[in-house]
Amino acid sequence: MAFEFKTITPQPMSSYIGAEIQGVDVTQCSDEQFAELKKAFVDYGIIAIREQNLTPEQHVEFAQRWGDININRFFKPSDQHPLIAEVRKEPHQKMNIGAIWHTDHSYDLAPALGSILYAKEIPPVGGDTLFNSMHAAWLTLSDGMKETLSGLRAMHSSRHVFGVLTPDAFPDIEGRITNAHEAKQDAVHNLIIKHPDSGKEILYVNPQFTVGIEGWNKDESDALLGFLYNHAKKPEFSCRLRWAEGTLAIWDNRSTWHCALNDYQGHRRLMHRITLEGVKLEGSAEPALAEAS
Ligand code: SIN
Repeated sequence: MAFEFKTITPQPMSSYIGAEIQGVDVTQCSDEQFAELKKAFVDYGIIAIREQNLTPEQHVEFAQRWGDININRFFKPSDQHPLIAEVRKEPHQKMNIGAIWHTDHSYDLAPALGSILYAKEIPPVGGDTLFNSMHAAWLTLSDGMKETLSGLRAMHSSRHVFGVLTPDAFPDIEGRITNAHEAKQDAVHNLIIKHPDSGKEILYVNPQFTVGIEGWNKDESDALLGFLYNHAKKPEFSCRLRWAEGTLAIWDNRSTWHCALNDYQGHRRLMHRITLEGVKLEGSAEPALAEAS
């Protein structure tokens, strides 16, 4: 039987993923209401809570109810709070942040649990974010493919993304992404993981941070990953979040991908992001240990 929410009313955004929530003030959540937000987060993968009016301190306080904050190594922190990362694009900048399908921090041994993104300034039109359900992606594979994937692990890295983003290579990145020299994270994760809370199977590779399948050569790996990416990108596994100022989105980083659309040239978009610490996934290892095991 479906869970009956008593203190919130999630409105599904699509068949597999996403729910909008109105009428909640996250600064005033009771324990019961907060527990239901957590349940909705696990069930829907991404929840968008509308019409919030948060100071940076209130954003941080709300995030701390979910767990420890993981300070992103590469995003510029907000001048307003060191625990908040800025996702910013100025009118003259062409590149946006997060345009390639990804899940945050999959290059870490303990990938982030989720992110809490707060819309501060949005363009008059455009700048939506797409989210896809990686449980739906797994669910719709054949039994034969599920069996093949279940014994495999993939390598994820930050090096080829953040290690090369220097102002020389990408002048646009200036003042937004920093610390290229710190891009040294590599991790190996099972291709299929079990969600730590729901127990559901999830396809856990992504086009931005996954670099190859353990024990496979590049051609083999590119072919399988290419197939999986095309499959997982299907629009029927997705929902589209149309932001408004004050929208607070919380996504589950284990069970979803996201991609920020870059269709608002000449306009400013400013979001405040807090990322939440996650736990080590079953089967995850550092690459050297993975080779030895
Ligand atoms: C991100 O990838 O965290 C940014 C998402 C967005 O700006 O919509």
